[in-house]
Amino acid sequence: MHYDINEKEIIKRIKTIKKKLGKELVILTHHYQRKEIVYLGDYGGDSFALSRQAAMNNDARFIVFCGVNFMAESAEILSQPNQIVQIPDLDAGCWMANMADISIVDESWEQAVSVIGEDKITPVVYMNADAVVKDFCGKNGGIICTSSNAPEALKWSFKRREKIFFFPDKHLGRNTANRLGIPPEEVIIWNPETPFGGNTKEAIKKAKIILWEGYCLVHTRFQVEDILKMRNKFPDAKVVVHPECPQEVVGAADDAGSTSFIVNYVDQAPAGATIVIGTEINLIDRLAFEYPEKKILALKHSLCPNMSKITLQKLLWSLENVGKVNIIKVPYKIKKGAKKALDRMLTL
Ligand code: 13P
Ligand code: SF4
Repeated sequence: MHYDINEKEIIKRIKTIKKKLGKELVILTHHYQRKEIVYLGDYGGDSFALSRQAAMNNDARFIVFCGVNFMAESAEILSQPNQIVQIPDLDAGCWMANMADISIVDESWEQAVSVIGEDKITPVVYMNADAVVKDFCGKNGGIICTSSNAPEALKWSFKRREKIFFFPDKHLGRNTANRLGIPPEEVIIWNPETPFGGNTKEAIKKAKIILWEGYCLVHTRFQVEDILKMRNKFPDAKVVVHPECPQEVVGAADDAGSTSFIVNYVDQAPAGATIVIGTEINLIDRLAFEYPEKKILALKHSLCPNMSKITLQKLLWSLENVGKVNIIKVPYKIKKGAKKALDRMLTL
């Protein structure tokens, strides 16, 4: 698929289709989409807000999701049976989600449970995971979380059982544990490539939180030195980062939170403020464009190639073939458990 027309013409055609379909169509856009796509969407947001929109928009027949696969899958799980969810590029995956393959997750869970006992541990799965891992979570009494509600999800779990196995982002897990004041010696890393995650049985028994060895390559590029350099150059600047960054980076920043938290942070800052942001570059570029009265700077240029796979051309193609191409359909067998785990998050 390739349209030999300029961007202006593509946008015009997209708007015409949108007008024609009216309420039958909802376009959801994640904050990491380039701004031209965000401006064509009906709702923009972080992964929590978008899953809520998917669950609420019962009138639309078509949901076109501009984001990555795990987000579109979650939208499909939360949508009604008569709704069709599409993604403009089926190859828009997530590196972090790929780090938690279900067969290895299952095996690791069995090993952990054999040491601790099933009634003592809850799986908490970050939204950035495949539907089948969400299903595993729901079936084992667990809950999904996003970066905007991870502390609440951990508290929810601790009320039920004494330990947590957190998948797949070790950094979000660690940063959330720090926020809740859980001592570092009660948090261990589970390396799925080694038996028992590379831990002794004693260490597993002692741990309050087990963190899966997964991470985001976009956010682990940020380093404390980047923050020091920026503070040196802009002494009055505030630094805000996403909690997928390593704990040292979060510790050196002024604040950390989800993509919506970052948007809000910029919005609330007074005119003239300098804000240095550690997250995906498309969001930072859009904020710099929307808040010219504030100095919005990137901690470092870091782009998510998966988010960038969604282009205006592909969005137009999806809309011209609405209901027919790139349909996301989560098999019923894994939908049930995944929905249970997502619903638990939505009622937090
Ligand atoms: P948010 O939930 O903060 O939007 O983050 C999603 C994500 O993939 C960050 O890398
Ligand atoms: Fe996945 Fe990282 Fe891209 Fe977010 S920024 S979608 S975690 S690869």
